[in-house]
Amino acid sequence: MNPENETPAGPIDDLVAFLDSSPTAWHAASWMAERLVSRGFTTLDEGEPWCIEPGGRYIVVRSGSAIAAFVVGTSPASEAGMRIVGAHTDSPALKLKPIASSAAAGYVTLGIEVYGGPILATWTDRDLRIAGRVVLASSRAAGGTEIRLVAPGSPLVTVPNLAIHLNRSVNDDGLKLNAQDHMPAVLALDKGGQPADRAVVDLLAADLGAAAADVLGFDLFLVDAQPAAIAGLGREFLRSGRLDDLAMCHAGLSALLRSSAAEAGHTRILVCYDNEEVGSATPQGAASPLLTDLVERIVMASEPGREPLLRAVSRSWLASADMAHAVHPSHQAKHDSVHRPIIGSGPVLKVNASMRYATDALGSSVFERACREADVPLQRYVHRADLPCGSTIGPIAASRLGLRTFDVGNPLLSMHSARETAGVGDHDLMIRALARFLSG
Ligand code: CO
Repeated sequence: MNPENETPAGPIDDLVAFLDSSPTAWHAASWMAERLVSRGFTTLDEGEPWCIEPGGRYIVVRSGSAIAAFVVGTSPASEAGMRIVGAHTDSPALKLKPIASSAAAGYVTLGIEVYGGPILATWTDRDLRIAGRVVLASSRAAGGTEIRLVAPGSPLVTVPNLAIHLNRSVNDDGLKLNAQDHMPAVLALDKGGQPADRAVVDLLAADLGAAAADVLGFDLFLVDAQPAAIAGLGREFLRSGRLDDLAMCHAGLSALLRSSAAEAGHTRILVCYDNEEVGSATPQGAASPLLTDLVERIVMASEPGREPLLRAVSRSWLASADMAHAVHPSHQAKHDSVHRPIIGSGPVLKVNASMRYATDALGSSVFERACREADVPLQRYVHRADLPCGSTIGPIAASRLGLRTFDVGNPLLSMHSARETAGVGDHDLMIRALARFLSG
C-alpha cells in the first residue's frame, strides 16, 4: 500500500504494508516520513535553523533510521508540558561483514555478524533477502555522496542447516550455532568466473544501476523474505518478522495522526529510535541527545532560556512502547502465575523493580486512565522474580531527560525470532490507548 493513501482496510492492513515495506530501520523511517509528509507534516533539517509555529506539524529524521514527529502545542510548553510516545525502528538480524562475500567449498557465501539478540536457529533454512543502505559516489557533485536504500527481491539466500544424519543429537541437545562458523549464508555456486569477494558489490551496483566502483560503503542485513500474514482460525494472529518493534512504531504513528486531528495546548511527539537492540549508544539511539535536542528546540522556539525548558520536561510524560512477552501455551511456567499477558486481550503495562522498565505507580495511573477513557482493556506484566529482565528504550530516555516514563507494549510470542506472532485485535486497542494518552 502506498503511504499516501488513506487506510480504508484498517490499521492492521496498514501495519502489514508497513512491515513488508520495512526490512530495515532505514526503510521503516523512510516509510514513516513519507506517510507523515503526506498528512501535512513538514520536514525539518537538524543542520538548518528551525521556524516552529504553535499548532505546526513537523518531522525530523536522524541518520536516516531514527524519526521524530511532533505537533506543537498552542499553549507554552512550560505550562502545558508534552506527551511523548517512543519506540524503536531496528530489529535483530544478521549483518553482512564489510567484505561480504567469499568462496567456500564451491559456494559463494555471505559472512555475517549478529545484530542484537536474534533466536539464531530461526534464521536457518529460511528464505532471506539482503536489505539496507548503500553509499554511492555521487555524479552530481565532485566528492559528493548519495545514500540509497536497497532491498532487492532476488536473489534469495539461505543459512542451510546441517542434515540430521550429520548432527544426530540436534533434537536432544538443541540446535547449537556458532555465529562465525555456522551462520554464513549461501548466495550462489562459485563457478570461478567473477571473484567471489566482488559478488555483493556487483549485486548492489546492478540493483542501483550504478558502477561497482561507485559503491563506497554499505550497511546490509539478512532479513526474512516472507511477507507478513494474518493467521489463525479466527484470523486473530499477525505473523511477521520485526513486529518488535515496528508494530509499536506503527501504533505510535497511527496514534499521533489520530490524536492530531484535534488541536491541543500541549505538544505531542512520536520518537522512534534506532539501535535499541544493540544498547542504544549511537547518535540515533535512545542514549543519544535526539529527544533532548528536539525538546530543547521546540520549547526554546517560543520560550527562550533554560527554565521554561526544565519546567516543560517536568510536566511531560513518555510512553515507551515496545512489545511484551505473551504467555506461551507450552511454557506457562516461564511467566509469573498471575502476570500472563494473552494475545488478543489488549495492551500490557510492564513493571520491574530494578527499573529495567521505567513504570512506577504514577506512570501506571496515567496509562490506566488513558485505557479506561479509550475503553481499552489493560494487562500487566512483571518478569519472574528469579529471571533477569530485558529492557527497553524507556529507562534510557527517562534517565537522559529526567522525564517521567512508563513502559507498555502489545503481547508477542517468539520475540526475536525471524518470524514473531502478535494479535490482530491488540493493534487497534494500542492505537486507541496511545491516541488517548497523546491527547492528554
Ligand atoms: Co523491542
